[in-house]
Amino acid sequence: MGLTIWLTGLSSAGKTTIAAAVCEGLRERGCKVEWLDGDVVRQNLCRGLGFSKEDRDENIRRIGFVAELLTRHGIVVVVSAISPYRAARDEVRRRIGDFLEVYVNAPIEVCERRDHKGIYRRARAGEIRHVTGVDDPYEPPLAPDVECRTDRETPAESAASVLRAVDLWHAQTAGPAV
Ligand code: ADX
Repeated sequence: MGLTIWLTGLSSAGKTTIAAAVCEGLRERGCKVEWLDGDVVRQNLCRGLGFSKEDRDENIRRIGFVAELLTRHGIVVVVSAISPYRAARDEVRRRIGDFLEVYVNAPIEVCERRDHKGIYRRARAGEIRHVTGVDDPYEPPLAPDVECRTDRETPAESAASVLRAVDLWHAQTAGPAV
């Protein structure tokens, strides 16, 4: 059964780390898996899009379109993208249907301390604008299927809670076999 697992959260919250572990767990379960990561997608399918609300919504719409096609063909799709706007996320959820929303949540101070890509430092230095959580909004999910508090749990624990939700989803929709 196809499914989209959509990880949303601030930069450096841990989306990519959790997504990698979730993909591994899914493959071990025998699933066909595809991973759409915001940074990677922005180098090809969404090359040229920036970080205005319009461009971010377009980014999410395109990722959602591909995820929908793959999901329909039985792939388990893992998406990791900031996806800061609730309405855009809700729209892809509505279109795809078979969908789990994962809120990768760490306080902005923690994300800023990690700053894996240096974007917070560059934002504070005034080199870039429209950085999510600094001078651009992030609208947290109101009812995520899973919330990973990455400041309080390990990546392995976060991935395990996502995989538990996937197993539950499969048990409820497709019977016991994945
Ligand atoms: S989204 O908002 O459209 O979902 P997405 O996850 O695809 O964002 O891309 C975010 C990545 O773009 C970050 O990991 C970071 O490397 C880079 N980036 C560059 N500028 C910004 C910015 N102003 N705000 C957020 N991310 C930025």
